[in-house]
Amino acid sequence: MFDYQKPLIQFVWHLCLVGVCLLLWCSSGNAGIADTWKHCECEWQPWEAWSECSEECYGIKIRERSVQLTQYDGCDEFTDCATNDMGSDAAICNSVCFNAGTYMSSLDTCHCVSGRYGRCCRNLVTCGDPGGISNGRKSGSNFEFNGQVTYRCDQHHNMTGGDSKRVCQDTGMWSGLEPTCVFVNTCGSAPCQHGGECIDGLNEYTCVCLPGWSGKDCQNDVQPPIASNCSGDIHVFTGETVTTVTWIVPEFHDPMDKGVTVVANYDQSQYEFPWGDFNISYVATKAHNAMTSECTFTIKVRPHPCEELNIPKNGARVCNGWMTDFGQYCLVFCSSNFTLPRNYDFRQWYVCGASGHWIAPIPMPNCSVPVYSFMETPDSQTTEKDVGLKFEACPVDNADIASAYIEKLQSSEFSTICPNSDSCKTENVKVDCY
Ligand SMILES: *[C@@H]1O[C@H](CO)[C@@H](O)[C@H](O)[C@H]1NC(C)=O
Ligand SMILES: *[C@@H]1O[C@H](CO)[C@@H](O)[C@H](O)[C@H]1NC(C)=O
Ligand SMILES: *[C@@H]1O[C@H](CO)[C@@H](O)[C@H](O)[C@H]1NC(C)=O
Ligand SMILES: *[C@@H]1O[C@H](CO)[C@@H](O)[C@H](O)[C@H]1NC(C)=O
Ligand SMILES: *[C@@H]1O[C@H](CO)[C@@H](O)[C@H](O)[C@H]1NC(C)=O
Repeated sequence: MFDYQKPLIQFVWHLCLVGVCLLLWCSSGNAGIADTWKHCECEWQPWEAWSECSEECYGIKIRERSVQLTQYDGCDEFTDCATNDMGSDAAICNSVCFNAGTYMSSLDTCHCVSGRYGRCCRNLVTCGDPGGISNGRKSGSNFEFNGQVTYRCDQHHNMTGGDSKRVCQDTGMWSGLEPTCVFVNTCGSAPCQHGGECIDGLNEYTCVCLPGWSGKDCQNDVQPPIASNCSGDIHVFTGETVTTVTWIVPEFHDPMDKGVTVVANYDQSQYEFPWGDFNISYVATKAHNAMTSECTFTIKVRPHPCEELNIPKNGARVCNGWMTDFGQYCLVFCSSNFTLPRNYDFRQWYVCGASGHWIAPIPMPNCSVPVYSFMETPDSQTTEKDVGLKFEACPVDNADIASAYIEKLQSSEFSTICPNSDSCKTENVKVDCY
């Protein structure tokens, strides 16, 4: 009996790989028969059945046969019949890789087509069930190579991110990413209050509120009271020291019909004011949301304004630059080479009072008289009138004229408009020269 020996089989197999096996198997006919074959009456028994194939692909199958010999002298073992082992036979079986794989001799393995794997390419790649998704449905049940699944979101849901179709790849992974279904019928519950417009969004809505409302759901009343008939500033000119001014009381209301309370700094809409500025203020408060709005305006009570005073030729008009709303007090100054005509006096004040009229007739006189005429015929009265009221030329160096003006003002009957040096100071004197 021949015992199957694995090393031998492998030896045979490898010889086959290099193309020798054909020769080997072909020569197994009678070449190994020993000289004593006849003498020992050796006789082959029929081949037994082939063994199972050793591998699924490119395996070996073997079969065996035994030899019968007659036990003459020197005839008691297999070697008396055969010089080498012809009791076994081997052949390649399953000489294909499955599923269109190709055998690669150098690696002694099958190279499989996409989607197949395993030594013999018998196995089909599978990606497994990719699972369902929330708020959507998956269709397709072929999870093997090239199988496809598709996803659809349920009603009121939109797919955001991920892929609606995924394919099982030869890596055993599904292509793309699992999709996400997000709720989009967010306005379905009509969440916006007070007439706000709802805009659907991904998992959340947005309210566009009507004026006066705010908040996520337009739930907050942010409407302040609305003022109507709010007066503008009021200018009143009067010759009297006190005058009665009447104004329109503003009205406040709330479009949402919540209560509004109004606080005013004057409890009437009519009041006696002296000359000056008076702020009138109405503040409305809506208790419901503590919002306020106000109407404020100023009442300006002034003496009547006077006509614009001229600037004397070759001279300057010098006036107070402060409290001008309440009176103007002006003098004429002449440039050094000119003086006033004989019948005019530098000491004359031109005053605009409450009546709106200049006291002393205007216009101011021009410095129309060249000064040499006086030099030639000195006149004590004229010289006196000139003292301190001269300047070199226009434009003027204000400081000297201004201090001369203030000196004159303080010693005049109008000294009350120069009560202190805060406003009555040289910088505030207004000098305009011609
Ligand atoms: C959801 O998808 C529909 C159809 O494509 C689209 O009209 C709608 O604007 C989407 N909704 C959101 C919130 O993106
Ligand atoms: C605004 O004042 C005018 C004149 O006094 C008056 O006719 C009108 O009704 C007032 N409007 C409101 C809204 O109070
Ligand atoms: C009146 O209001 C103005 C600003 O609106 C302010 O500058 C001024 O001081 C106020 N006058 C009085 C007398 O309150
Ligand atoms: C004033 O007159 C004198 C003499 O005529 C002259 O020299 C001087 O330049 C004049 N001054 C001015 C400011 O015109
Ligand atoms: C002063 O001069 C101007 C310009 O020459 C002239 O229009 C005006 O009438 C003169 N004023 C007086 C009071 O003479």
